[in-house]
Amino acid sequence: MSSRGNFSSKLGFILAAAGSAVGLGNIWKFPFEVADGGGAAFVLIYLAFAFILCFPVMVTEIAIGRKTQKNPVGAYAALGFKNWKFLGLMGILSGVLILSFYNVVAGWAFGYFLEMVKGNFGIGQNFSQFTNDVINVGLYGLVFMAITAFIVSKGISGGIEKAAKFLMPSLVIMILLLTFYASSLPNAMKGISYYLIPEFSEVTPEVIYNALGQAFFSLSLGMGALITYGSYISRGDNIVSSAAYITLTDVGIAFLAGLMMFPFVAYLTDGTMEGFSGGPGLIFVTLPGVFESLGSTLGIVVGALFFLLLSFAALTSTVSLLEVPVTYVVDEFKASRKTSVWLIATLIFLLGIPSLVSNGYSELFTSFITYVGASSPASFMTFVEHVGSDTLLPLGGVLITIFAAYVWKKHNLIEELRVGNPNLEGTWKEKYIDFAVSYLCPILLTLVFIFTFLGRFFGVNFF
Ligand code: PFF
Repeated sequence: MSSRGNFSSKLGFILAAAGSAVGLGNIWKFPFEVADGGGAAFVLIYLAFAFILCFPVMVTEIAIGRKTQKNPVGAYAALGFKNWKFLGLMGILSGVLILSFYNVVAGWAFGYFLEMVKGNFGIGQNFSQFTNDVINVGLYGLVFMAITAFIVSKGISGGIEKAAKFLMPSLVIMILLLTFYASSLPNAMKGISYYLIPEFSEVTPEVIYNALGQAFFSLSLGMGALITYGSYISRGDNIVSSAAYITLTDVGIAFLAGLMMFPFVAYLTDGTMEGFSGGPGLIFVTLPGVFESLGSTLGIVVGALFFLLLSFAALTSTVSLLEVPVTYVVDEFKASRKTSVWLIATLIFLLGIPSLVSNGYSELFTSFITYVGASSPASFMTFVEHVGSDTLLPLGGVLITIFAAYVWKKHNLIEELRVGNPNLEGTWKEKYIDFAVSYLCPILLTLVFIFTFLGRFFGVNFF
C-alpha cells in the first residue's frame, strides 16, 4: 500500500463517492429547480443528462485518477501531458470556490438543526435575520468546517471512508422515514402529482441549462473530485459498475428528496401548491412552517431529523471538496496531511466570509455585481456559485472528455476501464462510453456551456 492511503474496499469507495455526490445539491437545490422547471419535465431532462452525458464523464475521471494515483494536477503530468496541468488547477480552483460558499449553506443547515431541537419553528419567518446574524452563522460555518477538516485529517480509509460508512446509511434511513411520513400527510397526493406530472410548456432553454448544471454539480463532476477519489482505489475494482452505483444513488436520493418535499408543501398549502416560498428559501423558509403545524413534539422530531439529514448530506460533500486541494498539496509539495488540512480549511473558511455576509449584512457583497442585461445585481455568494459551479464545472467536463479522447487517447481510457472489468471488452457499455467521450460529451457540453455562459453573464439570448 502506498503512503498516500487507499479505500479499503470497493464499497467504501462507492459510499464515499456517492457521499460526495449526494449533498445540498440533491436535497436543497433539486426540489426547487424541479418546482421552477416544469415538475417531472425537469426530472426527465435531468435523468437523461445524468445517464447520457454525466456518466461517461464520471467514468473518465475515475479512470484518470486510478491510472495515475495522483491529484488532478499531478494526474495530467503523470500521463505525460504537462501542458494540461492547467485543467487540474482549474478544478482545484472550482473546488475551493464551491467549498467557500457551500460551507456557509451547510452551516445554515446545521444551525437550523439546533433551532429545530429547541422547537424554534419561527426561524423560517426570520430566515434573513438568521443569515444576517453573521457571528452566529459564522460560528456554525466554523464548526462545520472544523468537523470536515477533522474527518479529512484522518485520511482516506480511517477518515473519509469511515465517516461515509456511518453517514450514508444513516442518511438513507432518514430520507426514507421522512418520505414515508410525508406521504401519509393530508393532500400528499396533490404534492406528488405536482412533482410527477410533467409541464413541458414550462421548459425553456434556461431550464435545460439548469438541468445540466444541476446534474454536473450533483454528481460532483468537472473539478477532479472523482480523479482524486479514483486515485485511492484498487486496480481490481470495476470502474464502470462503481460509477453506475454512484450515479444511481445520487439520482435516487434526489428523486426521494422531491417525493419528500412536495407532500410537505402540499400539506402546508392545503393542496393548492400556491403561496409558498420557492427558490432557495424552499427549505429554510417554507419547511419550518410545515414542522410547526405538526405540533410541538412531532414537529421537533421531524424537523430535527430533516435538518440532520441535510447536514449529513452536506458533510460527505464538504469532505470531498476539501480532499481535492489537500491531495494536491500532499502529493505535489510532500506536505503532511494534517498540516495541509487545517491550513487549507482555514483559508477556505476565510474565503467564505464575503459569502457569509452577502445575504443582506454587507451592502457591498449583497449587491455585488450586475451582469450585462440583468435587472438586479447578484450577491457575492451567487456570483461565486455562478463562476465556481455553473461555469467552471461544465467547462472542466468538456475539457476532461476532450483530453481523454484526443490527447491521452481513447484506447488508453478504454484499456484502463477494462482493468478490473475484463468482460467489458466489446460490450455496448464500452461502445457507448467510447462514443460519448469522443463525440457526444465534447459537442453537447460545449454547446450548453457557451449558451449558459453568454446567457448568464452577457444577457445573450439565442432563442
Ligand atoms: N455533489 C454535491 C452536491 O450535490 O451537493 C456538491 C459537490 C461536491 C460538487 C463535490 C462538486 C464536488 F466536487
